Amino acid sequence: MKKTKVAIIGAGPSGLLLGQLLSKQGIDNVILERVTGEYVLGRIRAGVLEQGFANLIREAGVAHNMDSVGEVHDGVEIAFNDERVKIELSKLTGGDSVIVYGQVEITKDLMQARQEAGLETIYEVSNTQLHDVKSQTPYVTYEKDGVTHTLQCDYIAGCDGFHGVSRQTIPLDVRTEYEKVYPFGWLGLLADTPPVNDELIYCKNDRGFALASMRSKTRSRYYIQVPLTEKVEDWSDERFWEELKKRLPASAAKNLVTGPSIEKSIAPLRSFICEPLQYGNLFLVGDAGHIVPPTGAKGLNLAASDVATLYKIMTKVYKEGDKECISQYSDIVLRRVWNGVRFSWWMTDMMHDFDGAKDQFDEKMSTSEMNYFIQSEAGKKVIAEQYVGLPYEDIK
Ligand code: APR
Ligand code: PHB
Repeated sequence: MKKTKVAIIGAGPSGLLLGQLLSKQGIDNVILERVTGEYVLGRIRAGVLEQGFANLIREAGVAHNMDSVGEVHDGVEIAFNDERVKIELSKLTGGDSVIVYGQVEITKDLMQARQEAGLETIYEVSNTQLHDVKSQTPYVTYEKDGVTHTLQCDYIAGCDGFHGVSRQTIPLDVRTEYEKVYPFGWLGLLADTPPVNDELIYCKNDRGFALASMRSKTRSRYYIQVPLTEKVEDWSDERFWEELKKRLPASAAKNLVTGPSIEKSIAPLRSFICEPLQYGNLFLVGDAGHIVPPTGAKGLNLAASDVATLYKIMTKVYKEGDKECISQYSDIVLRRVWNGVRFSWWMTDMMHDFDGAKDQFDEKMSTSEMNYFIQSEAGKKVIAEQYVGLPYEDIK
């Protein structure tokens, strides 16, 4: 019977980062993953890292590529049709910034570090089930190559995303789920073309929202808001580029370099939070416990702050024998998650065309609120400190 200290369900960014940090403290862990490593790396996701996340990657000892390839951004732009406003992140936050470095790259760096350290990740498992999570001897069963295995552990980290098994292990009468589904999606395109601008531009346009982002100086990432009824196969590259050009501010659109897409997909937008994020010795981490619309670039960053909290708690448990701190996990994580959920909801509400799903008065309120925030130094500071990420909370 296999045994470890922390059983980690899921080898996405949350599971891999937690495994790497625990291993640095000599805390044994095994990761169980449903799909192959290649499949995990095939998921195209965001690429804006908060200061806290970047520091965690450095603490995990896997920051070489991020610090050499990643781009430090000390500003971000918000455009209202052709009017562009710069949010000077570093100036408004006393020096904080964000790093533009793709989630796929982070995941690749973490996978490589885990492999080089000879740490165990079991891919292509099925029928993962969590047992006795309220007891002092929880365990996980899973199937691999048709054989059912048991992994005994002290704690289980549910890093298995929104569709995972961990959240479902918390009884329905124990958990409360909050959800908001938005009446539109984001059609995203990745292309090996130079970005239209040195910094990201979030565009509120009469035709709908658009975002100009990037992965490097030679690889661009763009999004346009589309109705949920849209099908990606109805969007040729040419149709995408034409619509994006109409939504970017004119001074940026004239610099747009188009080219063939290397990835194109439509993602729905939702806000979701589960309370609590802990049940006995099971901890929900990242997308397993919460989902945000990508408008605030918080998905990966909230997963990272969950990991930081659990890593600090596990370190106190195993290095100091302090088990009291375990009960702090959910409250600490939820304080930061709700703040990130609110910022992501606010940015989504301000920047998108709700096409009648919001009444006219509310539409006017959103436009007036965004105008106030981007015209006032105080308002820009609020956006800046949320965007670079609020400080991580310590364990008492
Ligand atoms: N057993 C084992 N593994 C599972 C199971 C299961 N029952 N269910 C899901 N998984 C795996 C998935 O295959 C996936 O690789 O768990 C992993 C969860 O990874 P993510 O969904 O990426 O979630 P997380 O690691 O929290 O990362 C959050 O990823 O989806 C983006 O926008 C999100 O940027 C955020 C980040
Ligand atoms: C991205 O580059 O994919 C990206 C950047 C910022 C966001 C969302 C997505 O808010």
